[in-house]
Amino acid sequence: MDKILVHGGNGLAGSIKISGSKNSALPILAATLLTREPCTIHRVPDLSDTHYMLQILMHLGAQVERASGTVTVTAEKTDSVAPYDVVRKMRASVCVLGPLLGRCKEATVALPGGCVIGDRPIDLHLKGFEALGAAMRVQGGDVKVFAPKLNGAVINLRGKFGPTVLGTDNVMMAAVLAEGTTVIEGAAAEPEVCDLADFLNKMGAKIEGAGTRRLIIEGVKELHGAEHDIIPDRIEAGTFLVAGAIAGKGVTINRAEPQHLTAITNALTGCGFKIEAKKNSLTVLPNGVAKPLELETEPYPGFPTDMQAQMCALLSTTDGISVVTENVFPQRYMHVAELKRMGANMQLEGSTAVIQGVHRLTGAPVMASDLRASAALVLAGLKAEGITEVSRVYHIDRGYEHLDEKLSELGAHIERVKE
Ligand code: EPZ
Repeated sequence: MDKILVHGGNGLAGSIKISGSKNSALPILAATLLTREPCTIHRVPDLSDTHYMLQILMHLGAQVERASGTVTVTAEKTDSVAPYDVVRKMRASVCVLGPLLGRCKEATVALPGGCVIGDRPIDLHLKGFEALGAAMRVQGGDVKVFAPKLNGAVINLRGKFGPTVLGTDNVMMAAVLAEGTTVIEGAAAEPEVCDLADFLNKMGAKIEGAGTRRLIIEGVKELHGAEHDIIPDRIEAGTFLVAGAIAGKGVTINRAEPQHLTAITNALTGCGFKIEAKKNSLTVLPNGVAKPLELETEPYPGFPTDMQAQMCALLSTTDGISVVTENVFPQRYMHVAELKRMGANMQLEGSTAVIQGVHRLTGAPVMASDLRASAALVLAGLKAEGITEVSRVYHIDRGYEHLDEKLSELGAHIERVKE
């Protein structure tokens, strides 16, 4: 296993290019199962999670060709049972359920385990499939869904913690081949859900309302192949904007989508940083003393839960008292204990972190736990005194394309070594 050594103190400056979105690529790659014709997807990020998804597609019988960021998938025929040994490595594998149910009228996938950010139920996904006419059986750790045919229905997918992103994706991918019209109320409106709907419509689906809480899907008989460019990864973009806020003297992110980043740029301007926006790029600049912040994570277009840990890293050295409340995954605070090892002063009260900014952090050996918490520890190390050793960086490689190399391009003193 690798670890990342961050030598704190270097200022960051310059620009980097944002990769294609992981959380858009995963459901879109799964959606290629909905047709026997070839689908070509551009800007697929080079991540372990996208590799896992391609392994699942190949196990199901699809042909997969990859040339740098372009992937062509041809699922002329497809099995309906996803392999446990790959599915167990990635919770998002659950998003093959919808396309397999739509295409084969049955699907078997290992139930996603929990993970460090909290319980990851799929009750809303199953509620949606049931409304479309599917039955389900949980057996031996697998969930099997099956239906003689799928009929359009009116479904409310809102759960206790708001809409479900992959649940909306899954039900949409089953409904596109159902007979009749499906209305999904309480749908997720994330840009990645819109990107999937755009791809499905290019395949011949009839989906309206993407980006709102109400999707209307008119079922069609079959879908054809299509070509698609994945949208930029707004969480990677946000992560680099926070890196620029923590240690930057002017960091620019290119090939970004500014309108997907409004909640993040508003939070950074709320902390006193200056943001300059152009058509497909954003620059974050220091602008005097940073200010503390009160922040709550919400479903899109609110502040994203996937950026909460990174903001905690920034606020841990921002003078004053900041309050961060996590409303989507209330237990998503694995980074707090590790940041405290670096000298951060923060207390958890339920799903709220109260952060008393300290003058500076000190480097320490810390352990990555989930994808975004790991990135937050690297960001904290950029400004900490001394060396921060982040172990188990495979968490980072799941969702960031060469994070250490991109930070080095901006001037960070960072190295990847064998553990
Ligand atoms: C997606 O996960 C993202 N992953 C997550 O990003 C992201 O944090 C999350 O959406 C929220 O934005 C991918 O897109 C691959 P949810 P997803 O269903 O769809 C509860 C990252 O770092 N819920 O929107 O699995 C759930 O427990 C990852 O890139 C139910 O109760 O999340 C949570 O509290 C981490 N029942 C809330 O809803 C269900 O059936 C939102 O979860 C489904 C979800």
